[in-house]
Amino acid sequence: MTAGGDQVIRLDVDGKTIDLRIQRGTAGADGIMLGPLLAETGMVAFDPGLLNTASCTSDVTFIDGDQGILRYRGYPIEQLAEHSTFLEVALLLIRGELPAQSELEAFETRIDKHMYLSDDFRQIFSVMPRRAHPMATLGAAINMMAGFYPESLDPLDPAAVRLATALMLAKMPTIISYIYRRAQGNALLYPQPGQSYIENFARMTFQLPGERFEVPPEFYRALDTLLILHADHEQNCSTSSVRMIGSARANLYMSVSGGVSALSGPLHGGANEAVLDMLSYIRDSGIDPRDFMKQVKDKKAGIRLMGFGHRVYKSYDPRAAIVKQQAQAVLEALGVRDELLDIAQEVEQVALSDDYFIERRLYPNVDFYTGIIYRAMGFPASMFTPLFALGRLPGWIAQWREMINDPAGKIGRPRQVYTGLEQRDYVPASQRP
Ligand code: ACO
Repeated sequence: MTAGGDQVIRLDVDGKTIDLRIQRGTAGADGIMLGPLLAETGMVAFDPGLLNTASCTSDVTFIDGDQGILRYRGYPIEQLAEHSTFLEVALLLIRGELPAQSELEAFETRIDKHMYLSDDFRQIFSVMPRRAHPMATLGAAINMMAGFYPESLDPLDPAAVRLATALMLAKMPTIISYIYRRAQGNALLYPQPGQSYIENFARMTFQLPGERFEVPPEFYRALDTLLILHADHEQNCSTSSVRMIGSARANLYMSVSGGVSALSGPLHGGANEAVLDMLSYIRDSGIDPRDFMKQVKDKKAGIRLMGFGHRVYKSYDPRAAIVKQQAQAVLEALGVRDELLDIAQEVEQVALSDDYFIERRLYPNVDFYTGIIYRAMGFPASMFTPLFALGRLPGWIAQWREMINDPAGKIGRPRQVYTGLEQRDYVPASQRP
C-alpha cells in the first residue's frame, strides 16, 4: 500500500496498526524497515540465524543465490577471476572503483614496502606451539598488530584507516607464511623487493634452505584467482562479525581478528579443510561414495556432505564452477595426479542426481574443490582456512570501512525473546535441596 507517495507495509499488532517504510535496493530483495516496531508495538522481530534479516545497506557485493550470480562493485566474478589480480580486486572492493594503472602501481609499491615484519613481531611466532592450529596463531598475530602499529588505530581517522588497510594487506601473507614455516621448523624468510605479492607469499612459504623456489606460472595465477574468488561475500558470518565488532568502534585489527575467529568454524571457512578430511576418509576407508551418501542422508550419524550447501546459493556457487574448471588445469600444470579429485567428482555427480540434494537445492560451494588445488600446491589442510582468510581480507576491510562511514550506523545490539524463568528468590546453599 502507499502512504504519502511511498509504498509502506501496514502491520496490525493486537489491533494497533503501524506503517513500515521500505528500504529499496538496486538489485535483489528490498527491506521492510522495522525501526518503529519495538517502540510502537512492544514486540521485536524474531529471526534465528538472521535468515530474513538485512543488518545494513551495502554497495560492495551483490549475490543472487537463485541464479548463481556474484558481483563485486557491479563486476561479475567471472570477469574479475579471468582478467584481474588480487590486489586490484582489493582496491576495487575497498575504494569502489577499478584503479587507473598508475594508482594500481602506487598501491602495489606501498604494499610491497610494508610486507616486511620487524624482528620483534617475528618473535611472536616462536612463542606459539608448533602444533597450534594456524587460525589460532593468525587471529593472535592480527590482534598483535594493534599493539605494533598504534598510529593506525583510530577508526574515525581516514589516514589511520588507510594505513591499517595497507599494513594488514601487506603483512598478512608474510604472517601466514611464517605460521607455516614455524610449524615446519624452518627459518623465516624475508620478502624480496621486485617479486609480486603472490610470488613473495609463495616463496616465503615454500622455499627450502639452499634451494630455489620454482613453479610454473599457472601456480601463481591459480593462487591469485583463488584469493579473488574469496575476496568478499557480503554479510556472511565472519564479515558480519567484523562489522559487529567494529560497530563498537573497535579498531580494524581487532575487528578483523574477530572475523578470523568466525571463519575458523567448520560450517564457514573451516569447511575446505573438512572437505579434504571427508574425501580422504572415503579413499582410506574404501567406502563407496553412494554408501557414504546414505550415511549423510540418514542424518543419524550427524555427517554432512562438506563443501555442499550454502545459506544464500540455492544453485551452483559461481565460484565453485570456476574452481572446478581450474582444479584439473592446475593439477596438470603441476604434474600432480590426485585420487581425491576423482573422488570429489564422483561424489558431486552422485549428489547432483540424488533427490535429497535436489529437493534441498544443495550444490557444491566454493570450498568443495579449493582444497584439492591447495593440496596440489603443497599446502597442508590446516593452511586452507588461513588462505581463505587472506582472500577474504579485502572484503572484511571494505565492509568495515563502509560500516564506519555509514551515517546511519549504530552499535550492533540485537534483542532477544527471553524464554527463561521468571523472577525467583535466592536460597542459601545450605538450604537448597
Ligand atoms: N549435507 C547434508 N545435508 C545438508 C547439507 C550438507 N552439506 N547442508 C544442508 N543440508 C540439509 C540440512 O540437513 C537441512 O535438511 P532438513 O531440511 O531435512 O532439515 C537442509 O539441508 C537445510 O540446511 P540448513 O542447515 O538449514 O541450511 P543453512 O542455510 O542453515 O546452512 C550451510 C548452510 C551451513 C553451509 C550448510 O549447507 C552446511 O553445513 N554445509 C556443509 C558445510 C560447508 O560446506 N560450509 C561452507 C559454507 S560456504 C563458505 O563458508 C565459504
